[in-house]
Amino acid sequence: MAAIGTMFFVACDDPQSPGLEYMPDMYRSPAIETYVDYEFPDSSTSRKAPEGSIPRGYKPYAYPNSNEGYELAGQQLSNPLMLTEKSIKEGKKLYESFCAHCHGKKGLGAGSITNAIYGAVPSYADNTPNRRGNRAMSALTEGHIYHTIMFGLNAMGPHSSLIRENDRWKIVAYVQTLQGKDPLVKEMEEPKAEITE
Ligand code: HEC
Repeated sequence: MAAIGTMFFVACDDPQSPGLEYMPDMYRSPAIETYVDYEFPDSSTSRKAPEGSIPRGYKPYAYPNSNEGYELAGQQLSNPLMLTEKSIKEGKKLYESFCAHCHGKKGLGAGSITNAIYGAVPSYADNTPNRRGNRAMSALTEGHIYHTIMFGLNAMGPHSSLIRENDRWKIVAYVQTLQGKDPLVKEMEEPKAEITE
């Protein structure tokens, strides 16, 4: 009785004390908690990933959002898909969802959005050399088009977070048809393996 009495009074001694903890893990999570100082030199609990870490499922894009990056992408990138009539049809569908409201169904530059900031959407088939690097829209390579989807340009926002890699390349192939090219012709010359995603 005396022992039980002592335990009872000891437990009540400090109103802040949780008393005897049988299994501390039930009360205190072994995981790092937010807003707790774990005595890192900068006092931040949330640690930065080591430099060069790549998030799971993320594929880095090697070309920076600059004119140099655009030029290099234009020279070096080529469509990794094994293109077929079907992929171009899929590209058309994607184009109609993601691009046509500004660029127009036929890529002539007159989409359904009429706000003044989208007043100068160029036609893909335009031959005037007034684009980046003194190029005409019709002269943009598949790499230039892909790079533009990644980063956008002025009033056109970046689309990299909206469209998956495979789908971006299908759109590129469809845009080439709007430039007046036939992406399937090149396919006959250098066939490739399909990337799966
Ligand atoms: C919100 C409207 C908008 C959407 C959506 C949009 N674009 Fe654009 N796009 C523009 C405008 C405006 C320009 C001209 C930018 C400039 O020259 O300042 C442009 C320019 C371009 C160019 C030319 C880039 C260059 O180097 O000159 C390409 C290629 C292009 N868009 C492709 C696409 C594709 C493919 C999509 C769909 C994935 C798309 N755009 C979606 C508005 C849009």
